[in-house]
Amino acid sequence: MYRLCTEYLEPGMVLAKNLNGTDGSVLFAAGQELDAEHIATLRDMGVEQVFIRVPGNLPDPEFLDSLAVNHARRFYFYVDADNPAMEALFNASARRTRAALDQGWLIPCADELMARNVEHLSDLFHKDAGLPQDIVDHENELASFPDVYFRIKEVLDSPTSSANDVARVVESDVALSAKLLKLVNSPFYGLSATVDSVARAISLVGANELSNLALGITAINFFKDIPRELMDMQTFWRHSLSCGIFARLVASRIPGLPPDRFFTAGLLHDAGRLIVFKNLPYASVEAMLFARHNMLPLVVAERRVLGYDHAEVAWALLNSWKFPETLTAAIAFHHAPDLSPQPRDAAVVQLADNLAHAAAVSEGGTYVLPGQEQEATALLGLDTGVLGKLMDIHDRSMAELSSVFLR
Ligand SMILES: [Fe+2]
Ligand SMILES: [Fe+2]
Repeated sequence: MYRLCTEYLEPGMVLAKNLNGTDGSVLFAAGQELDAEHIATLRDMGVEQVFIRVPGNLPDPEFLDSLAVNHARRFYFYVDADNPAMEALFNASARRTRAALDQGWLIPCADELMARNVEHLSDLFHKDAGLPQDIVDHENELASFPDVYFRIKEVLDSPTSSANDVARVVESDVALSAKLLKLVNSPFYGLSATVDSVARAISLVGANELSNLALGITAINFFKDIPRELMDMQTFWRHSLSCGIFARLVASRIPGLPPDRFFTAGLLHDAGRLIVFKNLPYASVEAMLFARHNMLPLVVAERRVLGYDHAEVAWALLNSWKFPETLTAAIAFHHAPDLSPQPRDAAVVQLADNLAHAAAVSEGGTYVLPGQEQEATALLGLDTGVLGKLMDIHDRSMAELSSVFLR
């Protein structure tokens, strides 16, 4: 017996269990061989999943192959199919989905993905009234930044500050330095010796890069008070960490780019979403459902529902925080690198975002890939053959870093 979402049914499959109507009557009996008309009826009735008969524990390998490809394909409707990088990601998503199916993973059906009670939510802004800047201004009135953020910024901005100054500021925040040390000691960093002090970390990573990491980690704390029922924060931060890891992996393969800065950019790339969520929870959920129903990337659904997207909000937010400009640009243009003053930086984050979505396909996937234009991929000068391999490195790094960044 195998549980299958109705959308993946094929003529000739045989029901393993009775299918009952709401009044308890049997609509389709166990043993019924389904034809195209039966399948259409089931879908019309809104039946989401059925149990089908299979000889062993799993359907035959060929069916699983097509199931994996069909599942992966749903997430690639929006991408430029002529971009070889997107093709490489699709192949990786299908391969990983196939491996997950072999492990007994079941593809979640639409109802499991949609279920979310939003009736208790009310928006602080009418969705047609608040503009990104208004929302950010309101947010900044409410919450204040931890003091350490400004002190790190001060040393970062001062031409006379030394590595020792950076170390002193970072060490003054015990939780922050513990996190930084865990991060640089993880195999993801691949440093041969154990790093036991912030000063040592700075000598290996660089004062500037360590400050950027510290700023990113501090900025994350700003979002700690988002009510859990508003948004699946675990999924959100997993996606953010995943994007941070991919951004660092991609940047480290491009000569001249500082990988750590891209880790921070990836970690915070969707921070604008959190601000929208805090202020317009109802409209945010509307955008999420609109994206899922219409198989659109979330960023496109936001523009339709809200009139702007989370990247525009991130631009206003990070500018109000006086976040380092290069980081701000890489984050705020991750859905439109061609508009960025540093298109290549934004293209790194954009590719990392797509990689993070592609890797999540075999765990159910949250949104369809936003995609990347060929021109943006070309800025990176990457061999697209490497993208599938990055996914394997990413998986190991996720396991290592989840304990540092996710609770
Ligand atoms: Fe995004
Ligand atoms: Fe994202």
